This record gives sequence, structure tokens and C-alpha cells, in this order.
Amino acid sequence: MRRAEFADETLAAVVAAAGLDTPDTREAWEWRLQCALPWPVFDGYRQRRDECYAAAKDAGDIARVAAAEDQFFAFAGAHPDLCRLVVSGRLGYYDALLPTAAARLRRGPHARILDLGSFAGVGSLYLGAAFPDSRVGGVERHPGAVAVAEEARGRCGLGNVSFACADYTAFDAGPFDAVVSLQALPAYLLPWLPSEQPAGHRRTRSWATPPPRCSRSSAGSRRSAG
Ligand SMILES: C[S@@+](CC[C@H](N)C(=O)[O-])C[C@H]1O[C@@H](n2cnc3c(N)ncnc32)[C@H](O)[C@@H]1O
Repeated sequence: MRRAEFADETLAAVVAAAGLDTPDTREAWEWRLQCALPWPVFDGYRQRRDECYAAAKDAGDIARVAAAEDQFFAFAGAHPDLCRLVVSGRLGYYDALLPTAAARLRRGPHARILDLGSFAGVGSLYLGAAFPDSRVGGVERHPGAVAVAEEARGRCGLGNVSFACADYTAFDAGPFDAVVSLQALPAYLLPWLPSEQPAGHRRTRSWATPPPRCSRSSAGSRRSAG
């Protein structure tokens, strides 16, 4: 997805200011994931992601989904490059969802907005840019993801956004006028919920085999094409 292809200008501006990677196609993103990360990181990512989908598909066991999710985001948060790539892979989702979230917030009081489960911060930063007169707080339990979010916040220069590293079930820093949570409640992956398909966004779950120029070995570390 190139910058010009974002439907939403605020998101395009935030992504550019944060210096987030915007591969132009889904395939380019998958290629980058497979080739730019050290093998143990890519492999760990893939295993944890597959467990999330297996847990959601199998039985709709919320506890298993939540545990798998937590493992996934703990791992992603611990690897900043992976964290940023995961975010880049979600740009289409953000583009489809965040303008709708902002439109809903606009209908009510929104001077103090809390974003539950903010991960690398894109949702909070977007809301901070969309509502420059509001204060936006993102709360996320994985410190690595919070660090990536803080770095992006600094690059965007959004002084009305802050991040806290905490479990949101025990977070008591209010009051807030509005609370948003973008795919951060434990059940969001369950197949009967619509959160994976905001209007205008189609998620690709297929997993590409490594393209021919991307060679890997289990002993490999950072590896470039060719
Ligand atoms: C699917 S991600 C969504 C992240 C972000 N809202 C977005 O749309 O990109 C869910 C995030 O919520 C965080 N999370 C889940 N439960 C949490 C809790 N109880 N306290 C804090 N963070 C939590 C996870 O660590 C993860 O980063």
C-alpha cells in the first residue's frame, strides 16, 4: 500500500510521520516479513500467529484465544522490527476502521479518550491527530510495544497523546469521556464476531511460501534477497 493509496489522509500523515514501512502490496509485506527478520523471529512470529488462528477456529475457547493472543503480542512487542512490520500489515485495517471510529467519537464527548490495548500506538496516534484538542491515552501491557509507540509518538510530535504500560483491567487513570478498543478485547478473533472485516477491508490469511530469491536456513540471521 503506497501512501497515495490510503483512503484517509490523517492516517497517511501519521504513518509517514511515524516512519512506518508501507509495502505496496500484501505480497510485498509478506516477503519483507519472511526475508528481513532474523529467522528465529520470523519463525516465532509464524508459530504464535498460527496458534492464534487455530485457537479461534477450533472451539471458540475464549481462554485459549486470549492466551494465544497474549503470547503473540508479547513476542511481537519484544522484537521492535517485527512490531513495526505487524503494524504495517494492519494499515489496510486501520484505513478501513479508524475513520469510522473517529466519526463515532465525534458524536459524543471526546475531550479525554482512552485506547485500550494500544499495541504500537497507531490507533491512539491517529485519534490524537484527528482530535488535536483532545487528550488521548493508549494503554498496553507489553513494554516493547509501548516503546515502539512512544518512539512513533515522538516522531509525529503529538503532544496530546501518551502511552502507559499497564493491564487495562486494572488501569485507573481516568476519568475519560470516551473509551475505544480496537481488536483488543480477548474475544475479537472468534469467528462469529465481525471485527476482522470492517467495511472495505478484506483480510488475507493465506501464507505465501518464500519467494525464490528469499533463501533461508534455520541458522540464518538477517538475510537479503538475491
Ligand atoms: C489485536 S492487538 C490490537 C492493537 C491495536 N488496538 C490495534 O488495533 O492495532 C491487541 C492488543 O491489546 C493488548 N491487550 C490485550 N489485553 C490487554 C490488557 N488486559 N491490558 C493491556 N493491553 C492488553 C495486547 O497486548 C495487544 O497489543
